[in-house]
Amino acid sequence: MQIKHNISLKPYNTFGIDALARHFVTIQSVEELKQALTLKNHPEIFILGGGSNMLLTKNIDALVLHLNIKGISIISEDDQFVIVQAHAGENWHEFVLWCLENDFGGLENLSLIPGNVGSAPIQNIGAYGIELKDAFVSCEVLDIKTKTLKTYTKEDCKFDYRNSIFKQEEKGKSIICNVTFKLSKKNHKLHTSYGSISNQLAEMKIVHPTIQDVSKAVIKIRQSKLPDPKKIGNSGSFFKNPVISTNAYSKLKENFPDIPGYTVSDTEIKVPAGWLIEKTGFKGKQFGDYGVHKEQALVLVNYGTANGNDILELARLIQKTVNQLFNIAIQAEVNII
Ligand code: EPU
Repeated sequence: MQIKHNISLKPYNTFGIDALARHFVTIQSVEELKQALTLKNHPEIFILGGGSNMLLTKNIDALVLHLNIKGISIISEDDQFVIVQAHAGENWHEFVLWCLENDFGGLENLSLIPGNVGSAPIQNIGAYGIELKDAFVSCEVLDIKTKTLKTYTKEDCKFDYRNSIFKQEEKGKSIICNVTFKLSKKNHKLHTSYGSISNQLAEMKIVHPTIQDVSKAVIKIRQSKLPDPKKIGNSGSFFKNPVISTNAYSKLKENFPDIPGYTVSDTEIKVPAGWLIEKTGFKGKQFGDYGVHKEQALVLVNYGTANGNDILELARLIQKTVNQLFNIAIQAEVNII
């Protein structure tokens, strides 16, 4: 375990923000993690996974623990299902590809989501009709205070839309070390009803899709709409899709007849923030070295050397403008540091 000092976090966050870590250590095992937590002269710690859901607006004056604990294993299996455990430092998409190579179904709709396995439960990652919670069994978590491992079941995690206990009461108290999933081995349940997936499969001339085909379709859609963080810095959706009352939605519909909405409950409707932002005219706008992605208004981008505060200011301007036009307060999905 080697501690480095004053190193740039640019390669460690997908927004590509050049902030410094006062101290930085790469963690390869739970034992190393426990050791790092007992280092007396570094009381402040900062947990870094894949760095794909954060906007750094300042240097990190703490000991950054870069979680790089690797390993994927089959815990048990029967004819129908397999229980697979992946460690926190596995890259999410590579883990999904490993599942597909083994013909294990359940995560294919979540192909190409940036970030690591250990961060995925924190915001219950989701895309194209599936959320992490749908295949989740449990995760093992290290309690920062007691340095003991505890297991969290699906119920314990209190998953919700881009939310879990790890964003709420457990925030800053524990570190996810591994995640266990239940995946299908045969009779895979495909989720292709999400409009763009069925269109993409039709375009690929696939009538009886496999889980691998669904993954390919998802990858194509994502590549067409979302910027590749290796080429253009970004953190995926910058904002959450707001949930508003059906009454408020009906009123908006009078002025904006084409406003999309997805029913959440009898009294609530989720509205795509990307649509709201597009209506404000921000889509595709570039300001210096940062801006709003041209294919998906929900994504803010860093074209190279933008700093986190520039992007944060743009985010606030977008929030204000959306609020003025629609009377809806959209919230950031990424963690502002
Ligand atoms: N839309 C616009 N303009 C835009 C973007 C979207 O009008 O610039 C409209 C689309 O036409 C469509 C609706 O908004 O009617 C929804 O768009 P899309 O299917 O692209 O999904 P989204 O709601 O914008 C969410 C997730 C994405 C996920 C996609 C696909 C959130 C905050 N975002 O985006 O997740 O990939 O659905 O399931 O829930 C992420 O979290 O980082 C992320 C990329």
